[in-house]
Amino acid sequence: MTMPAPLTARFELAQTVVREVGSLARSLRQSSLVVSEKGRQDWVTNADLAVEARLVEAIRGAFPGDAILAEETQRAAGEGEHLWIVDPIDGTTNFAEGLDLWAISVGFARKGRIEFGVIYAPDRDEMYVAARGKGASLNGVQMKAGDASRRHNLVLLGRSNRTDHAAYLNLVDRIVKSDHDYRRLGSAALSLALVARGVAGGYYEAHLNSWDCAAGLVICDEAGCRSGLSDIDLILGGPVLVAHAGFLGDALALVNPKADNS
Ligand code: IPD
Ligand code: CA
Ligand code: CA
Repeated sequence: MTMPAPLTARFELAQTVVREVGSLARSLRQSSLVVSEKGRQDWVTNADLAVEARLVEAIRGAFPGDAILAEETQRAAGEGEHLWIVDPIDGTTNFAEGLDLWAISVGFARKGRIEFGVIYAPDRDEMYVAARGKGASLNGVQMKAGDASRRHNLVLLGRSNRTDHAAYLNLVDRIVKSDHDYRRLGSAALSLALVARGVAGGYYEAHLNSWDCAAGLVICDEAGCRSGLSDIDLILGGPVLVAHAGFLGDALALVNPKADNS
């Protein structure tokens, strides 16, 4: 089954433009980085704004009728027919500090369903892409999530000031007391990509905005991961739990210990 031409054109544009803005972000970081605080532990840089402006310009230039939801400047009234979901830099703290765990994340939804996702990590030169029904790949090589039941899995976690800190600490406590282990990498998009790639068993965060995870969720889906929660609300965001098939049961029990997860 081939992809309809209008989707292919959008998917190709996304892959081309994320590379271009990846270079832009790296050169701004090197020459003239300006970091400001949006809130506690919530930074934005001139590179976030420049990358977003260029992405919006490229999308509007090619597809003027499409809606855009982008973290820093664009709010969409609703899901609409065609919705681009953009995080110009996911992992801004890592980016500003010189860690390579940050990425540009572009998702695209048609009638409320995410159709494709592109995550590009410029410092690592890793391009993760997936289109619904077409599989997921990293730099052109097909990816597959893990699936075997194993005693030890790595759970990637995220947290922000949008959610209760005590609940996060309790989850860390449960993981530490289980056979599994955890990491918090500071980029939800890249963490999801690493689950899709089979490097980690799963990812959980109590609240993500859709720009953090729209691309990552379709990439995980297409790599064979399972979602433990209902679909993300594209406008409001929500909790996200994805894991490979052999870990989903344990992951659900860790995240939601009182529920019957059978
Ligand atoms: C954040 C990162 C972080 C996640 C937060 C996000 P930003 O996005 O993805 O890993 O835990 O919930 O807000 O601010 O770096 O784009
Ligand atoms: Ca983000
Ligand atoms: Ca961001």
